[in-house]
Amino acid sequence: MRTVEVIETKEENCSVKTFTFSDEICGKAEPGQFVMVWIPGVDEIPISLSGINSDGLTSITVNEVGEASSALNQKEKGDIIGVRGPFGKGFVPTKGNVMIVGGGTGLGPMMPLTEKLVKIADKITVMSGVKSKFNLLFLDRITKLLSDIDSETVFTTEDGSYGIECLVTEQVELKLIKEKYDMIYTCGPEQMMYRTFILAEQYKVPVQASLERIMRCGIGLCGSCAIGTIRVCKDGPVLTSTQLRSIREEFGKFQLDFTGKKRKL
Ligand SMILES: Cc1cc2nc3c(=O)[nH]c(=O)nc-3n(C[C@H](O)[C@H](O)[C@H](O)COP(=O)(O)OP(=O)(O)OC[C@H]3O[C@@H](n4cnc5c(N)ncnc54)[C@H](O)[C@@H]3O)c2cc1C
Ligand code: FES
Repeated sequence: MRTVEVIETKEENCSVKTFTFSDEICGKAEPGQFVMVWIPGVDEIPISLSGINSDGLTSITVNEVGEASSALNQKEKGDIIGVRGPFGKGFVPTKGNVMIVGGGTGLGPMMPLTEKLVKIADKITVMSGVKSKFNLLFLDRITKLLSDIDSETVFTTEDGSYGIECLVTEQVELKLIKEKYDMIYTCGPEQMMYRTFILAEQYKVPVQASLERIMRCGIGLCGSCAIGTIRVCKDGPVLTSTQLRSIREEFGKFQLDFTGKKRKL
């Protein structure tokens, strides 16, 4: 594990904060890979990289959901955290007409992916779904990234406070009816990714989805992140359509809890 100093923080919204640090090894990461972040005296948790730069400038974007993520979000410029990784298999950027479907902090790993896609894709459609306008993320970053490429953006909120009032997957379906896509990338709540996968299967579009499971070792040893025969930390977190088909019985339905028991999502 390496210790790094937080060199910048940004409050993205009331529960989400982005941290920037310098780490040469993370500078070589693929979009979609994650690091195990150690919060001294508290815990170690998996977080995807939301910013990757070849000079080592790296960022993570953290939503407060429990003890460790809340403690992490208390950190400020100058504080020390630990990182292990980057681990796992990331997104593979593809050419052609691509769609990005992100929910909440699931948009984080989509930012470095979009930076790669703008160099090779013909068109990028970003579909972002959140509960309310207070949960919106990366509006400026998305607009800036897509400014020089054929692109579309669709924002949805469940309460109608911004963009279209609906679940983002309803808009995904409308797009799939109208246009042929070469790849769908998705990251966010598992029910959203599952619905996106089912739609993509129906319209015969390949998918790359970044899954979340409880992670301890992060390197394929402990089994806490198992789903079917897949270890999400090592075989994923980004899984292809073929891998998602192989875990159809569990994807979107169950996950192992902290004691290793299967529980409904
Ligand atoms: C590969 C990967 C990448 C991730 N990337 C990000 C990211 O970029 N930004 C971000 O904010 N979060 C991300 N997460 C989720 C993050 O790791 C969890 O929110 C965090 O571990 C919760 O720890 P806690 O102590 O704050 O909460 P806890 O008190 O441990 O748990 C609070 C709630 O979160 C659930 N939870 C705990 N750990 C996980 C987990 N690993 N996956 C899903 N649910 C969990 C618990 O079941 C509980 O309902 C990622 C998870 C994985 C596996
Ligand atoms: S976290 Fe230990 S095997 Fe995946």
